[in-house]
Amino acid sequence: MDPTFQQYLDAGLRWFHVVAGVIWMSQLFFFNFVHAVVARGYDEQMKRKLVPELMPRALYFFRWGALFTWLSGLVLIGVVYHVGGLMVPTDATPLQRGIAFGASQALIYFGFFLYDLLWKSPLGKNETVGALVSLGLFAAMAFGLSRVMAGRALWLHLGAILGSIMMLNVWMRIWPAHKKIIRGLKETGPTPGPEVAALASLRSKHNVYLSIPVLFFMVAPHTFTLGYADELNWAWATGAVIAGWAAAKFLFHKANSPAPLKAP
Ligand code: HEM
Repeated sequence: MDPTFQQYLDAGLRWFHVVAGVIWMSQLFFFNFVHAVVARGYDEQMKRKLVPELMPRALYFFRWGALFTWLSGLVLIGVVYHVGGLMVPTDATPLQRGIAFGASQALIYFGFFLYDLLWKSPLGKNETVGALVSLGLFAAMAFGLSRVMAGRALWLHLGAILGSIMMLNVWMRIWPAHKKIIRGLKETGPTPGPEVAALASLRSKHNVYLSIPVLFFMVAPHTFTLGYADELNWAWATGAVIAGWAAAKFLFHKANSPAPLKAP
């Protein structure tokens, strides 16, 4: 069967999306598992020499990778779920269809501001409390969306909403903070207070914790039909977030241990 235009578009978009995603994730993991550990050993002179050379280059691929992953992901949602008709179960009412579309779009564009508010609030001052509240909000969102969306759409959109929080973390919190830090080191701007670097590294760490579940939700539509066809698909999804966070914690532990330095 000759592939239709939509199949070419789908394949081309996925290729672009995954390449942009790999560019973004490669820098995210480099920052958190390699540079953050090495930079602790920098003296003032090394910092002034290396950071203005290294960070702008890595941040360039980091932020544009993030934006193009997001934009291609939005188009893919349109092609696969809206045009492809995979958003809601076949027997869905027009109201159900409207809520599924409206709620998912609202969470993709505005979910970040709820997350940002939480982590700027006193609840976010304690990481364990912030993480538990975030997990509770995720489970509530997954449960709510599972009442109106088809299983495959639910999983992908949960990934897309977390991926959108990650993208806005990059452009609205991490990149602006690093710009101030680099200008301070190059003496082309004021030296920022320690809270600026603290915000950038906290949000970058959050993005690592979000990235592992996002990657699961991205590939799950092809593989894990068991989970998303199940009545408890929202609980499986919440379980995938907990498993992803455990994997991220293990990777941070390894990055900060002597293991990477053990010479072969
Ligand atoms: C952390 C960022 C992200 C990464 C690394 C990523 C990666 C991926 C990967 C590997 C796939 C599977 C491709 C395939 O098997 O065909 C995928 C599919 C997809 N992604 Fe993403 N993605 C990310 C964020 C996003 C965001 C933010 C959106 C939407 C705003 C999105 C929308 C999609 C869609 C619609 C698909 C196709 C799913 C399907 O076939 O049902 N992705 N993504």
